[in-house]
Amino acid sequence: MAKDIAPYTETLKTFKKHYNEKEVLNGLMKDVEIIFPCLRKVTTCVSIGTGYGDYDLDFLRTCLPYLKTLIVIEKNEDCLRELKINLEEFSDNLEVYIIKSTIERFIQINELGHWFLLNEIVEDSSPEKVQKVTSFFMGKIEIVLAFHVLHFLDQAHRRALYKLCLGQWMWPEEKLNNIFVFVSMSGEDSTIVRLIKELTQDSLVISEIIKNELNEQGGFCLHDFSYECLMDVPDINNLREIVKSMFPDFEVNESSLAEVAKKIVPNGKSILKASMCLYAKKN
Ligand SMILES: C[S@@+](CC[C@H](N)C(=O)[O-])C[C@H]1O[C@@H](n2cnc3c(N)ncnc32)[C@H](O)[C@@H]1O
Repeated sequence: MAKDIAPYTETLKTFKKHYNEKEVLNGLMKDVEIIFPCLRKVTTCVSIGTGYGDYDLDFLRTCLPYLKTLIVIEKNEDCLRELKINLEEFSDNLEVYIIKSTIERFIQINELGHWFLLNEIVEDSSPEKVQKVTSFFMGKIEIVLAFHVLHFLDQAHRRALYKLCLGQWMWPEEKLNNIFVFVSMSGEDSTIVRLIKELTQDSLVISEIIKNELNEQGGFCLHDFSYECLMDVPDINNLREIVKSMFPDFEVNESSLAEVAKKIVPNGKSILKASMCLYAKKN
């Protein structure tokens, strides 16, 4: 694993140690593989906000064994450094393109059709590589993964992303190997949603909101794998890590954090609610 682990990757890992989401999601991914065997045919995948690759790479291992092309859109350099190491276990036949950018910037390039700008954000960008990745983006992409990333986008950019996926990259629903898969927190009453609300006064974008938005934009929910995980939050540091992993730039006020901790996780145990949803494009 990477020696020089940066703060954000560290924050993510510390947070993840306190709940069993990876184990729960891995079980659900096995169910996905059984319910949607046609995913085995998938050869092209775009992963948005891949991080250091944790859940996204689990999905690739379990559900997409014949993947040929992976395109990553991730803005964080430290995550990308570690992602590249984690990708080493995959076969040399997997072609990986890394776009070091926000999804917002990528959407802008796509909307303007200014593909030459990919030059600035595709890693190790040789003209051949940029041309190849451009042709993928101008064609059809079989599967798009957006795991724990949509809450970072404002509504206009979420909608622009759905339009890109459902309107440009995807075929209608009879093609079950052509899907948009997202993972997001759920439930107004769940600890994380309440915590974020109390501390930041902001409402977290949860799976219920995302599903409504996708339904309105021509999406069709093939399957909603809702799940709950046990969270062990023995001290206030864990709560700080949760907020920092969800909003890395947010300045946490320590006295409010202490108050909120007493109110929301008085006995150090809690439940994390989330959902992994598979969406197709309506006919
Ligand atoms: C909570 S992590 C999830 C990582 C990974 N998908 C997983 O589930 O294990 C969110 C990731 O999204 C990235 N991210 C946040 N906002 C983004 C944006 N606007 N464009 C692209 N990536 C973004 C972060 O850098 C981070 O790596």
